[in-house]
Amino acid sequence: MTISSSRLDELRRSTSLPKHVAIIMDGNGRWALERGLERPAGHKAGADAVREAVEGALHAGVRVLTLFAFSQENWQRPQAEIDALMALLENYIAEEAEALQREGVSVRVLGDLTLLSASARAAVERVEAATTGGTSLDLNVCISYSARAEIVRAARRLAERVARGELVPDRIDDAAFAAELYTAGWPDPDLLIRTSGEMRISNFLLWQVAYSEIHVTPVLWPDFTREDLYAAILEFQQRDRRFGRVSA
Ligand code: FPP
Repeated sequence: MTISSSRLDELRRSTSLPKHVAIIMDGNGRWALERGLERPAGHKAGADAVREAVEGALHAGVRVLTLFAFSQENWQRPQAEIDALMALLENYIAEEAEALQREGVSVRVLGDLTLLSASARAAVERVEAATTGGTSLDLNVCISYSARAEIVRAARRLAERVARGELVPDRIDDAAFAAELYTAGWPDPDLLIRTSGEMRISNFLLWQVAYSEIHVTPVLWPDFTREDLYAAILEFQQRDRRFGRVSA
């Protein structure tokens, strides 16, 4: 696939490249419905769009890409759809692990992995181990993830440290809290993209998106291409980020 793109050239000329892009991948079901297909067919097409987004992030020079693939609430979907999504995840890992490693992508899976099947968990551990140390892009895939559960977990971990006498409550500040989240060590997302036109955060990275710029596109996730990523980054580069202060 070609990497030449006028949008890519343009966004690279800017000094404000987002270090961390997070994406709520939405619209797989509607994409399938529009074509008279079953929902899992939409997820299958969605997995191809994941490849596109990763390639696009690599070409654009984004350092961290965090994708919302499966929420804790998604466990309430029909079992057949859950099975299809988990099979897709395992296939994606089987097919992509080598290429991801070759391209210097370091993969981490964030969420409550105790709810995953043994084979899905093994696949996750395999790809994390195989890609450790990749320096081109950190790819975080949120699976069985809920931001509120992540925040509760962080609070519990801090409370445990206090109970063990390792920490005094006065020392709990933003940094101490962030250090207990799954995303510890990564910068907060500069840009949050949501596909399919929905204007919701849907329990995704609630702490981390405090100052993220939000880009909502009507494109359904399976139709999302690297050009859509570049368009979102270009729009981001026009934003005036004030972080609660006044403009420079
Ligand atoms: C939202 O669409 C999408 C999901 C719940 C699953 C996302 C999964 C993938 C893109 C594929 C597998 C992932 C990887 C990392 C290989 P929806 O089903 O909520 O769509 P709808 O709102 O139109 O019903």
